[in-house]
Amino acid sequence: MDDVKEIRRGTLQEQTFYEQVGGEETFRRLVHRFYEGVAGDPLLRPMYPEEDLGPAEERFTLFLIQYWGGPTTYSENRGHPRLRMRHAPFAVDRAAHDAWLKHMRVAVEELGLSEEHEHTLWNYLTYAAASMVNTEG
Ligand code: HEM
Repeated sequence: MDDVKEIRRGTLQEQTFYEQVGGEETFRRLVHRFYEGVAGDPLLRPMYPEEDLGPAEERFTLFLIQYWGGPTTYSENRGHPRLRMRHAPFAVDRAAHDAWLKHMRVAVEELGLSEEHEHTLWNYLTYAAASMVNTEG
């Protein structure tokens, strides 16, 4: 029995964060819920250049999957993320940052992750959002 426990423990430690939180389905749920918020947001919705939010949802989903250790489809399609550069065409001010995080908070909470996983994900998202601000507006 002790041997079996050893093996199980080792296997768990080798899992990526992506796998630990449930893989592709979890990130699809997260970003889908987030974009439901964006779709109804009077400040954020006009910032998205395409009429159909579907392709933006797909890009963001694939980015997060890659970031957390899943398949690297994002970079195969889009190249190096260079996220600050890619956001340069959009005026990301404090209000946009706050609205973005507000919708993201709802989406993260609905995942029902463990406290530790939720904390890890949220820390990253708040840090990344702050780093995307590019104007005082
Ligand atoms: C702080 C507020 C933010 C605003 C207002 C914002 C807004 C936008 C907009 C308008 C786009 C273009 C939509 C498209 O056509 O793809 C975009 C793209 C994207 N955003 Fe953000 N964003 C924010 C923060 C973030 C953060 C924190 C991340 C990463 C954790 C992120 C990841 C992405 C990605 C991966 C794309 C697609 C890039 C590509 O073209 O491949 N964004 N964002």
